[in-house]
Amino acid sequence: MSEQKPAPLPFIDLQAQYRELKHSIDTRIHAVLDHGQYILGPEVKQLEERLAARVGVKHCISCSSGTDALLMALMALGVGPGDEVITSPFTFFATGEMIALLGAVPVMVDIEPDTYNIDPKLIEAAITARTRAIMPVALYGQPAEMDAINEIAARHKLPVIEDAAQSFGAMYKGRHSCALSTIGCTSFFPSKPLGGYGDGGACFTDDDALAVKMHQLRNHGQEARYRHSEIGINGRLDTLQAAILLAKLDVFDRELIARGEVANAYNGTLLALQKTGKLLRIPELRAGRTSPYAQYTVEVEHRDAVIAAMSEAGVPTAVHYPVPMHQQPVFVRSEAGERAAGTLPNAEHAAAHVLSLPLHPYLGRRSMQRVTRALEEAVVKAAAEAPGVPVLVETGKA
Ligand SMILES: Cc1ncc(COP(=O)(O)O)c(C=O)c1O
Repeated sequence: MSEQKPAPLPFIDLQAQYRELKHSIDTRIHAVLDHGQYILGPEVKQLEERLAARVGVKHCISCSSGTDALLMALMALGVGPGDEVITSPFTFFATGEMIALLGAVPVMVDIEPDTYNIDPKLIEAAITARTRAIMPVALYGQPAEMDAINEIAARHKLPVIEDAAQSFGAMYKGRHSCALSTIGCTSFFPSKPLGGYGDGGACFTDDDALAVKMHQLRNHGQEARYRHSEIGINGRLDTLQAAILLAKLDVFDRELIARGEVANAYNGTLLALQKTGKLLRIPELRAGRTSPYAQYTVEVEHRDAVIAAMSEAGVPTAVHYPVPMHQQPVFVRSEAGERAAGTLPNAEHAAAHVLSLPLHPYLGRRSMQRVTRALEEAVVKAAAEAPGVPVLVETGKA
């Protein structure tokens, strides 16, 4: 009889989390069903108060997604046609998409090869008379070099929007991600470190006027019931999602620790593999920063072969993200794409080599070992099957 293969691991195990939290999640959902205030019910305000207190800012404006959080932040700052917003090319599409949706140009500045975040040293040269904001992204959960970015922004009197969709729970020099700039925007997409059972997001700010504006924008630009002082969106967070997020917030610190433990275990094992040159890079946090590890992402050579071998071993992987923003079809022939072409080698290298491994707070030690063993075997096999290919291949995709 042939040997039975073990069942594939899940990439993220939301069911395991639900089993742990079933009682409190179910109770909170039923409370909403009982009171029936599905839109902007009491749980929404309660969540906003708890999130603002946790992050250490005056205002949290919850909304319907991380994408809408970015949109509301940009709209509140008055970004519009003809403006430029400096951002990272190596991010989820929504970052550049919301800038372009408002008619502005996402001006893409290359990333640091180790943090995958915008390189502050390159920002100043990208500032023009049209620049209206700087929008760094905390990719995979590690905040960008916010002190340096804020310092440049202050010198040029520009606001900074932190795209913290992946970094809720991260710390930067003793302060929370989302509280590091003019406006911080996060996402409660189900797979995020703090995720609901549907879409959700939030904007954070200490600025009273921006907070009022974002509240209004979230609700069709209403300043009072049926009085619309500006064009807004339907960007409200569902009460049911707020209720679920409140239940998950109760255990968030415990989950953050568990996520960090998985990352540390991976680091411990994979450092040795990196030293042999079989892995190009493992995640590294800069001093003074923590990460919720929204993704645990390594760099490999021969990525397609590694993915195939790991999948064969029942270990799912993901690529965040295979195409940098400036090479997305919609941007290639736009002003944004044309200005970026040829200037973003680090983003292009990352897009060609990154590989994310399963990571969630309920991943047991045996599963972790299965992941690292599968990766180790996959990189060795992939290298053996691709003889003669130099360790660093050309990554340009133009
Ligand atoms: C960096 C980044 N920005 C923005 C978003 C958009 O968030 P959402 O999916 O909640 O709209 C995401 C979510 O994947 C993200 O990772």
